[in-house]
Amino acid sequence: MDVQIYQYDAVIVGAGLAGLAAAEELTTAGKKVAVITKLHPLRSHSGAAQGGINAALGEGDTTELHEFDTIKGSDYLADQDCVEMMCTKAPETIRWIESLGALFSRNDKGDIAIRPFGGQSKPRACYAKDRTGLTLLQTIYEQAHRAGIEVFDEWYAADIIYKDGKVSGVAAFNIRNMQPAIFNAKAVMFATGGYGRAFKINSNAHANTGDALSIVARHGLPLEDMEFVQFHPSGLGGSGILISEAARGEGGRLFNSLGERFMEKYAPNALELASRDVVARAITKEVLEGRGIGPEKDAVWIDLTHLDPQIILTKLPELRELAITFLGQDMLKEPIMIAATAHYSMGGIPVDINCHVRKSPTKLVEGFYAAGECSCVSVHGANRLGANSVLEALLFGRHAGQNILEDLDWLELRKATAEDAQRMLDEINWIKTNNGTESVPAIRTELQQSMTDNAAVFRKEETLLLQREILNTLTERYKNIRISDKSNTFNTELQEAIELGHMIEFSKFIVEGAILRKESRGAHYREDYPQRDDENFMKHTYSKLNKDGTISTEYGEVVPGKFEPQARSY
Ligand code: FUM
Repeated sequence: MDVQIYQYDAVIVGAGLAGLAAAEELTTAGKKVAVITKLHPLRSHSGAAQGGINAALGEGDTTELHEFDTIKGSDYLADQDCVEMMCTKAPETIRWIESLGALFSRNDKGDIAIRPFGGQSKPRACYAKDRTGLTLLQTIYEQAHRAGIEVFDEWYAADIIYKDGKVSGVAAFNIRNMQPAIFNAKAVMFATGGYGRAFKINSNAHANTGDALSIVARHGLPLEDMEFVQFHPSGLGGSGILISEAARGEGGRLFNSLGERFMEKYAPNALELASRDVVARAITKEVLEGRGIGPEKDAVWIDLTHLDPQIILTKLPELRELAITFLGQDMLKEPIMIAATAHYSMGGIPVDINCHVRKSPTKLVEGFYAAGECSCVSVHGANRLGANSVLEALLFGRHAGQNILEDLDWLELRKATAEDAQRMLDEINWIKTNNGTESVPAIRTELQQSMTDNAAVFRKEETLLLQREILNTLTERYKNIRISDKSNTFNTELQEAIELGHMIEFSKFIVEGAILRKESRGAHYREDYPQRDDENFMKHTYSKLNKDGTISTEYGEVVPGKFEPQARSY
């Protein structure tokens, strides 16, 4: 098939909150924008965000307090200029999305309702029942659609065109029929979401295979802080499906097999509303020390039966349905089973405060932008606070759109040719014709199981070094895969093979970053180095993939600000 060549002002990969917010800005300003997405936009993982979006709107709350909580939550690794921008602009972001049509839940006075979330000094999460992400996604999709974005859904973006320090397009194929195409543009933005599917138990959509990260890395560009993976305290037992922090925000209590409200030991003040890293470690420790519940003794209870049933029925209806559907447990009548689940990627494609992708800690790539979970801006540092990710995606997505708009005045189009699709075509051809003996699902299962065993909530040198070896072995075995579907019609076997290559590659960054970071900070907990070490590790990790498949690492400065690092307790 001939390679089709399309030309746009801007091409955005990913149609969640960040991608659509940027697309809406640009299209409304009259720019020609293509959005490429593996899924229909309304199936993007942003729609799975349940509990809320933070903004200091409540009585006695201030944007400065929001900043402080975010920086403390990040274990002082967040860049304070970016956090200041995010928290200061949060209230106007809520008003903007509301003016576009988002229906938030209301309090008795008719104001936007807010609920408490972990690690926050004040109730701050604005919400739409427990379907906040979906409400916001529907709103921004409607508006972007009305503005006239062109969506290429069920298209797979497989490569960027990157030459001489400049990105000038994307190579992609139509999943329906394998039609290859080049999307040539002055500006390219990645907004592709996170990399939680590297782990067996996770709350992420099937599409969250972190493709963008390894696409970037394969061009020798760095990834930042990849070792920081957030484990959400409450994934549904057995499956990891998200049971929103809103369940604890509304008053849910955690109990172990002895009936102990164990958070009293780990966070005597904040209890269940300590930050996520603290609660996830507490749950995992209870399980590891033999106080777990359930058939595998690998979970704990969350109990909401003491709450007024109306709270559950009106504010948490989806959570109740999920627990009934997947576990047969009705939270109105009984506690439900939960355990930590890989949830959010703090690391990602490094960007500056205006969403320009970095080529090194101090240099930028021309014409290349990223926002949302695939990026590392860094507002979450070593641990993100709940309800800050939807905020980040919407706010920085829109901000990226505004910056691209300004840059389009001077960016020049470098004309692409069909040859720019060659790397993608070679990869597809290799996968289709490789006649090995290894199965893609089998390697993926081993990857996810071993990452969970060796590089999850608790880590140590021994398990991390073992995981490095396992990843090297899986890399070799991947070279020997074989797929049976050679067709061009919805070839999901081929797509999953491409995605597996990405998953193995970015997992190396998680593990290498974790090996080198000989301290504990936020979500990265080293049993052999249990203390935070500001002297040596108050730094961002920047790692690159070498041609021989190894990773090299340098460190970049954390942007300081008005909040001095302190010991962190809840
Ligand atoms: O628990 C939740 O509702 C998830 C929210 C978030 O990750 O921000």
